Amino acid sequence: MTATDLITIRAADPGDLARLDEIYAHYVRLTPVSFDLEPPAAAARAAWLAEHPASGPHRILIAARAGTPVGYASSSRFRDRSAYRSSVETSVYLDPAWVGRGIGAGLYQSLFDGLAGLGLHRAYAAVTLPNPASVALHRRFGFREIGVLDEAGHKFGRYWSVLWLEKPL
Ligand SMILES: CC(C)(COP(=O)(O)OP(=O)(O)OC[C@H]1O[C@@H](n2cnc3c(N)ncnc32)[C@H](O)[C@@H]1OP(=O)(O)O)[C@@H](O)C(=O)NCCC(=O)NCCS
Repeated sequence: MTATDLITIRAADPGDLARLDEIYAHYVRLTPVSFDLEPPAAAARAAWLAEHPASGPHRILIAARAGTPVGYASSSRFRDRSAYRSSVETSVYLDPAWVGRGIGAGLYQSLFDGLAGLGLHRAYAAVTLPNPASVALHRRFGFREIGVLDEAGHKFGRYWSVLWLEKPL
């Protein structure tokens, strides 16, 4: 049995939020993976969790070890205008100690299994370049690259480009 065998995947609940915030804050503070410049306030993160109930098109799954989240994947509203309701934007973040062990793939598998049959048509993902692990993960799940927004964000004193990917659902 490996450490990854002990991972369980389930819907996020409010008791997970502090740990999810820690995972996300790592990428906000130290990497361009997220274009947030500061970790979101607690109220904003609580609202984010509330917008992602366990069922429906917008949801958050966590990978937990011994009950503690080591990563999460989300499907979220893509854009506000109503005709976009057939589309979602997906994302996945792991505790850096747990990358490269198949947990991202496990989360995405469960996420897309759960989204099947909901009438959704497209999933989109935005990846700050370079991020070979994320690009490989998205390709594995049938995303195709649809374009790069050249130098779309500015963080840590330089511009970063963003690859958008699309997956038929
Ligand atoms: C991106 C991320 C979610 C991938 O999850 P993971 O558990 O590390 O990846 P997995 O072990 O499931 O591997 C998924 C695929 O990526 C590949 N991969 C993993 N790490 C890689 C790396 N460092 N370089 C290149 N490919 C890599 C794997 O070989 C696998 O490809 P395959 O299906 O063709 O064999 C994870 O690395 C992570 O959280 N990274 C930091 C946050 C982040 O970048 N999130 C994505 C925001 S868009």
